[in-house]
Amino acid sequence: MKKKLTVIMLAIAVIGAFALSACGGEEATTLKVVTEATFKPFEFVEDGSDEIQGFDVDMMNAIAEDQGLSIEFVNIEFDALIPALDSNQGDIICAGMNKLSGDRAEQADFGDTYFESDLMLLVKADSDITGIDGVTPDMKLASQIGTTGGEYVQDLAKEGKIADGVVLNQWTDCYLQLQNGDVQGVIVDLPVGNAYLAENGDVAKYVGEKFGDHEEFAFAVKKGNTELLDKLNTGLANLKESGKYDELLQKWFS
Ligand code: ARG
Repeated sequence: MKKKLTVIMLAIAVIGAFALSACGGEEATTLKVVTEATFKPFEFVEDGSDEIQGFDVDMMNAIAEDQGLSIEFVNIEFDALIPALDSNQGDIICAGMNKLSGDRAEQADFGDTYFESDLMLLVKADSDITGIDGVTPDMKLASQIGTTGGEYVQDLAKEGKIADGVVLNQWTDCYLQLQNGDVQGVIVDLPVGNAYLAENGDVAKYVGEKFGDHEEFAFAVKKGNTELLDKLNTGLANLKESGKYDELLQKWFS
């Protein structure tokens, strides 16, 4: 009797498994979108929260919905983003990353441009510095490690134009060092500095004009993952076509 019951249970389990797979019951693989979330308003977490929010988060979620993808955002250090694709720790980079910078396009496949930006110099509200051409060899400037701003401050130091180019893991640390006087300026992406000034306009300011190479932000996938990149590009085009993209610009940059 017991043997008969076991056989029946086994048969039910096998039939169930076939039924699930026949009606496409497999769980869709959740793609990991790796980012560095101190880059408000593109990706950031509010104090005391683990939730990553921002323009890039809303944009990628809308693209995923449009293309029937399942995604989750993972917060890692900026200079670990491209290596994460190679090691399959991440499937997509979406981090306000300039696709034109250095050898990035040789290391990953970038999608269509979704935002354009330039660099600016942020200083304390009472600073006498007039702009990037007004920095002096006694000064220290900070920016984020692995970024275009980070490269810029390190180049200024190599050229002897500043005493030190301080590269830090998080933008929040750059702002902190500016406010406590450890550095005299922060080189930051224009829309990100704007977000900082919106909340700290009493203690900091922009000086001078934008500088450096004009930037084109794009998401990226592992070299050769054309199928996924095509889906992301199509999703972005659909967002622009439907007005959803402009809605997100209005939400995060108005
Ligand atoms: N746009 C700059 C770059 O491509 C800075 C990007 C920083 N992004 C971030 N999520 N921390 O290097």
